[in-house]
Amino acid sequence: MIPINEPLLGQRDLEYVSECVRTGWISSAGRFIEAFEQGWAEYCGRKHGIAVCNGTAALQAAVAALSLEPGDEVIMPTFTIISCALAVVYAGGVPVLVDSDPETWTMNVDRIADRITPRTKAIMAVHIYGHPVDMDPILDLAEQHGLAVIEDAAEAHGANYLSGRYTAEKTWQRCGSFGTMSCFSFYANKVITTGEGGMVLTDTPSLADKVRSLRNLCFETGQRFLHNELGYNFRITNLQAALGVAQVERIDELVARKRWMGEAYTKRLQGLSTLQLPAEKSWAQNVYWMYGVVISEETGMNAATFAQRLAKQGVQTRPFFLGIHEQPVFRRDGLFRSEVYPVAERLARQGLYLPSGMALTEVQLEQVVKAVQGVLAS
Ligand SMILES: Cc1ncc(COP(=O)(O)O)c(C=O)c1O
Repeated sequence: MIPINEPLLGQRDLEYVSECVRTGWISSAGRFIEAFEQGWAEYCGRKHGIAVCNGTAALQAAVAALSLEPGDEVIMPTFTIISCALAVVYAGGVPVLVDSDPETWTMNVDRIADRITPRTKAIMAVHIYGHPVDMDPILDLAEQHGLAVIEDAAEAHGANYLSGRYTAEKTWQRCGSFGTMSCFSFYANKVITTGEGGMVLTDTPSLADKVRSLRNLCFETGQRFLHNELGYNFRITNLQAALGVAQVERIDELVARKRWMGEAYTKRLQGLSTLQLPAEKSWAQNVYWMYGVVISEETGMNAATFAQRLAKQGVQTRPFFLGIHEQPVFRRDGLFRSEVYPVAERLARQGLYLPSGMALTEVQLEQVVKAVQGVLAS
């Protein structure tokens, strides 16, 4: 079976992690944590980085730092991981959903303005499967309405967006550099990984302090074991950060590998009329975090049937997200009950992603392509 993901770890990864083991710096203090935070913040063009234990915690800490009042609203795509909605619900807020763009699968930015109410406090902009969301309209709306922007760049390490907001000429800006705070996951299938891990980036010193405090139980700085606020233990270990430092050192190579994979799949699959492939808009550089495809209903298959047939050919796949509005855990509580988002609903039923890991070889990629062609021809 060709696996959906296999990380590609190297000598430097081993060397840095070994140093932690050798020196005994294995917990949440040690030289690699700050080095990882600084290295990633610098790569993304941000001033401050706060590393945490996973991407869900990063979103949770970032939303908590906004100090929402109960019932405050955060606009987000329905087509995303549940972590985005959880962060808002845990903070006492309400996720307000927007359908996807049928081409890029990211949030349809034309639908955001209609969802803004006096209770709206933030927009959560999520890059999907490596393709950036159209950031400029989001940043413009946020500015007009005084909203925070939380950028979820978990799936878009190293992706770029052509923005017209910084200079007269449009310039390429790195995903993770936008908005009030940006959040990352470094789970083993991400472009750079720490096994489990996450980070919040920001340019605002007060928010950086707040997230840093939330990460570590909101200990008061003057007096140990005194707490004026509710915090979390979202700490990352030096062991994980050591892996992170080694990965940041070769980010360009890792991004190039993903782009090679995406382009190689597209080149071989683009003739198939019943398969929608990942987009790359003129304003976007896709990192193809996961190579998603959407199968046409004309084939008589949905993603589940397609996945079963590919599995028989030795190809592992993963289904696309089931929209937030279709999640039983929220529906049970009366949220999103009468809401319909046709694009996201179709993506959930017809979309899956193909093996896309860092360790995927050209031979494996060719096998996947043959299996896809075979299943579609049968
Ligand atoms: C867009 C997005 N945000 C957040 C997360 C959560 O990250 P983690 O699995 O590290 O908690 C993920 C996980 O894949 C994700 O895809």
